[in-house]
Amino acid sequence: MSENNRKQSIEEFIEEFSFEPCVPELLKSIEKDNEKIKDLVICKYLKIQLTPAEEEDILNYFINNSVFSAATLANPATSVVTEFLYDPIGRFDIDKYFFASKGGKAIHSRLIRVEDNLHSLIEKHLKKGKVLIGNLGGGPGRDVIDVFSKFYRNNDNVASVNIDRDKNALNRGKRMADIGEVLNKIEFVESSFSKYKNKEKFDIIILVGVLCGLPIEKCTLLMREIKPLLAKGGSIMVSNVAPKMLNEDPFTYFIMNEIMGWSLVFKEEVILREIFENAGYDWHGSFIDDYGFHHMGIGTKRKTSLFKNF
Ligand SMILES: C[S@@+](CC[C@H](N)C(=O)[O-])C[C@H]1O[C@@H](n2cnc3c(N)ncnc32)[C@H](O)[C@@H]1O
Repeated sequence: MSENNRKQSIEEFIEEFSFEPCVPELLKSIEKDNEKIKDLVICKYLKIQLTPAEEEDILNYFINNSVFSAATLANPATSVVTEFLYDPIGRFDIDKYFFASKGGKAIHSRLIRVEDNLHSLIEKHLKKGKVLIGNLGGGPGRDVIDVFSKFYRNNDNVASVNIDRDKNALNRGKRMADIGEVLNKIEFVESSFSKYKNKEKFDIIILVGVLCGLPIEKCTLLMREIKPLLAKGGSIMVSNVAPKMLNEDPFTYFIMNEIMGWSLVFKEEVILREIFENAGYDWHGSFIDDYGFHHMGIGTKRKTSLFKNF
């Protein structure tokens, strides 16, 4: 491959693909700072072979110029990444790209839709009495904190247990809950939710942003493991990233996956439904974020029948 073929203008590159305007903006910003990196990023997207040293140059550039990229590389499943998109105040151009990208906006929209639906589920369960929510892999638990501080500050009938193995996320959550005046309603537990045992079963379980990177079999196993935590008649809400994200925002996934090494397992709604059913839940339907990049399934624990075969 000659040096000339490795140089392509942003305009030529953009013409080939129908990218969102934030993609040329990002490339122009990189070009202004370091033209070689811009060329390498385009080459990498076009699957033109790069040397290990060139790959390293791209990676170092992203780490040094984006908090989001550095956090993702360190731990793709960390809530630092989701929190960064929920509260978009980063100042680097690469971080601004993530805020402007459809993939980034869809994560923010997922939070809003999860909160709306969580509020409806709480209202439904409140009709039967007290409501205890298990926020599994909740990170700081922003979704529950927002809903509690908006609607239930003075309601003693709702409470939550936020279980995460990341102590820093839990500490952040405690501060957020304190500011939202709902700290007295949320217990923060540092644990793997697969190992957690509850004396009082959860009326609602939410599992958001946890399954996206996992293969189908592992998701099914995990959902089976957490079933004993859910009360009879309780509801579970589970999110997973959809193939639409890859189709409509391939450049963001290219950065996340091919530069930062973060893999997602995109699943259609029908696959999420199969996971529910194979793990022993009844499927009650699903909702999506505003971009259709995530499916959120809702279900209940399947009633076991003595006459399974009939
Ligand atoms: C991407 S974050 C999502 C956080 C939050 N649910 C949200 O929607 O913003 C995933 C979180 O799941 C946690 N996590 C993943 N597997 C876990 C497990 N088995 N037990 C406890 N926490 C887990 C991680 O520590 C991380 O905080």
